Amino acid sequence: MSSPPLLQIRDVETFYGKIQALRGITLDVHEGEIVTLIGANGAGKSTLMMTICGDPRARSGQIVYDGRDITRLPTHEIMRLRISQSPEGRRIFPRMTVNENLLMGAAVADPEHFEEDAARAFELFPRLKDRKDQRGGTLSGGEQQMLAIARALMARPKLLLLDEPSLGLAPLVVKQIFEVIKELNEKQGLTVFLVEQNAYHALKLAHQGHVIVNGKITMSGTGAELLAREEVRAAYLEGGAH
Ligand SMILES: Nc1ncnc2c1ncn2[C@@H]1O[C@H](COP(=O)(O)OP(=O)(O)OP(=O)(O)O)[C@@H](O)[C@H]1O
Ligand SMILES: [Mg+2]
Repeated sequence: MSSPPLLQIRDVETFYGKIQALRGITLDVHEGEIVTLIGANGAGKSTLMMTICGDPRARSGQIVYDGRDITRLPTHEIMRLRISQSPEGRRIFPRMTVNENLLMGAAVADPEHFEEDAARAFELFPRLKDRKDQRGGTLSGGEQQMLAIARALMARPKLLLLDEPSLGLAPLVVKQIFEVIKELNEKQGLTVFLVEQNAYHALKLAHQGHVIVNGKITMSGTGAELLAREEVRAAYLEGGAH
């Protein structure tokens, strides 16, 4: 591809105290792509996603977003650059209603767009519309995940970061969530960086995939290439995550 990547991660190393969680990560996310990072528990997936957002901060290496070096930028400034995150474990506001959660997500966007953007979120997730005055904490797990994604979209992101959206959800709900991600990418051209343990669904969806083991990328390729590889099948697909 000729245009520079929307997100360029170069030799990134991140530590928690003396523990090194990322050992020189390099990858690109091009505009309009879905890029997935798969790996086992503790491999460093969430750490990479959080490092993009500046918390924890990369100790060395470089992160360039939309032509700008964001490696040392404060997190709140990174969020203003239309990078939006749906973190692991959803972390919606449990005492706030669905509508209020969406308002929080819209905080960095223009408030004038709220009604229009909320309507669009409800179109994507009709179940949320029926529950807009219900408190977040009383939603089902699947509905909370929908809310976490909807909230992230309220900031009108150019780059959406999703950390394990399928975690703990029933297969049917997982399918729905992944269909919405696909639709956002295909219809709105949204660029997505998706961290997943559910390798089957993630690789089926992704244009590019990377495998992370112990803080290092060990394999990269198109989603289809990785799905076909024996090492990937053996380590991440046996037992049928699908
Ligand atoms: N706040 C922290 N303090 C110290 N070590 C941490 C912290 N957060 C993560 N780690 C360590 O960093 C490593 C990478 O963790 P990370 O959460 O990025 O893994 P992950 O790939 O997201 O795993 P999972 O699939 O279980 O979510 C692990 O060894 C973990 O114990
Ligand atoms: Mg994680």
